Amino acid sequence: MRVTVLGAGTMGNGIAHVFAQHGHDVTLVDLNEAALERGLATVAKNLDRQVAKGTLSDDDKAATLARLAASTDLAASVQQAELVVEAVSERTEVKAEIFKTLDAHAPAACILASNTSSISITWIAAQTKRPEQVIGMHFFNPVPVMKLVEVVRGLATSDETYATVKALSEELGKTPVEVNDAPGFVSNRVLMPMINEAVFCVHEGVATPEAVDEVMRLGMAHPMGPLQLADFIGLDVCLSILNVLHTEFGDPKYRPCPLLKQMVTAGRLGRKSGQGFYAY
Ligand SMILES: NC(=O)c1ccc[n+]([C@@H]2O[C@H](COP(=O)([O-])OP(=O)(O)OC[C@H]3O[C@@H](n4cnc5c(N)ncnc54)[C@H](O)[C@@H]3O)[C@@H](O)[C@H]2O)c1
Repeated sequence: MRVTVLGAGTMGNGIAHVFAQHGHDVTLVDLNEAALERGLATVAKNLDRQVAKGTLSDDDKAATLARLAASTDLAASVQQAELVVEAVSERTEVKAEIFKTLDAHAPAACILASNTSSISITWIAAQTKRPEQVIGMHFFNPVPVMKLVEVVRGLATSDETYATVKALSEELGKTPVEVNDAPGFVSNRVLMPMINEAVFCVHEGVATPEAVDEVMRLGMAHPMGPLQLADFIGLDVCLSILNVLHTEFGDPKYRPCPLLKQMVTAGRLGRKSGQGFYAY
């Protein structure tokens, strides 16, 4: 299949990697030339890691890279696409503009998928004249490693589009799970309140971050405590998803903890800024 992946950041380069490794012709697109170069370098580095581990041959690595092209021209890169997976920054106005452009330039049969974590698939689909071909394909970080694809059906997503994306996800070695469009889907609707509650425990002096994480690791067999995970995801990302849940449901149970807001205001965003609940 000819696949265009939009956004060469954390998720986009991983998505491009997985499609190319499984035999698809991929064009990776980013507005920013430097981001595109970084994305391609990350794919090469991660393929090297697979070769070093013995899970990929040198020939398969070369073939994967040969199937991967790069572009900064969105309209031109989707002219031949059969599937587009959008993984650009999580901003509604950016997604709206992109899906209008995609609708204008991608072939009529092309499926338009979004990797959004929190924006409504029904709303994204409504930006196009082909809402039955718009779907959520929610991958998890790091994409080459994580097995789940949350496949999100918008109100208008057709059975045919769903069946194609489900089969494709399986072909990529992933496990697709069908979910209907609702704020946070299932993954973030369950995860973010747990992270928020962990932050409240620290905020109220119930326990230290280390103690909260140890309880969840040892008592619930979570591989990573919720605060360590929040640092890994980015505290700004957690806050913005909680704000979406809070606004969309209008239920105070989703209100972000004041400590989380304060840490984001202070620039303590977790691993990426060097400081979150832990120092990096
Ligand atoms: N990071 C995660 O753990 C994670 C997990 C699941 C889903 N997501 C979702 O994936 C998407 C991407 O997240 P990310 O963490 O990879 O972001 P990122 O900031 O690492 O990368 C986004 C990329 O999009 C590019 N971009 C911005 N506007 C563009 C445009 N108009 N055209 C082309 N490229 C453009 C940026 O230059 C950047 O390289 C978001 O919707 C996010 O909610 C993220």
